[in-house]
Amino acid sequence: METTLIILKPDAVQRGIMGQIITRFENKGLQVVGAKLMKISQQLAATHYEAHSARPFYAGLVKFMTSSPVLVLAIRGNKAIEVSRNMMGATFGSKAAAGTIRGDFGVSNSFNLIHGSDSPEAAERELKLFFAAGEVQDWSRNADAWIYDMSGGKAE
Ligand code: RTP
Ligand code: MG
Repeated sequence: METTLIILKPDAVQRGIMGQIITRFENKGLQVVGAKLMKISQQLAATHYEAHSARPFYAGLVKFMTSSPVLVLAIRGNKAIEVSRNMMGATFGSKAAAGTIRGDFGVSNSFNLIHGSDSPEAAERELKLFFAAGEVQDWSRNADAWIYDMSGGKAE
């Protein structure tokens, strides 16, 4: 099982579509193991997006991410990182395919609603940035017996 960091960005919170986005992850069978409404500090935004610090959009990105509260989620499941990225769609709302979160809910390129870790290394780093020890809950979900085929001893 993988756990990934998802951020519902300020535009998703302000537009009141948090519930619709969370519902998509729950419908898919992914498990919410962490959730926190928070305002991202300049320092945290800079650390989170440090790989983009030389990019022309960086200043605007940090301003956007710190402009209003976000909902930070830890989402768990089989291949949760790749599955979540596929559910999010392409970076730009104008290009994202219909059926994806960005494709269905937005048309802007920079106000693109959602962040998701893009690799296991990024997920590990980002989960530690946003969740303190004990804030991610390892809870067993009864529905897992029907979400996954466990007959081989592991989730398939
Ligand atoms: P994210 O990191 O937020 O999950 O998005 P991503 O992987 O799909 O895209 P990435 O290349 O990592 O870019 C990070 C965020 O920066 C903003 N952006 N704006 N105007 C632009 O050219 C531009 N390019 C990127 C977006 O908010 C993007 O999600
Ligand atoms: Mg990215």
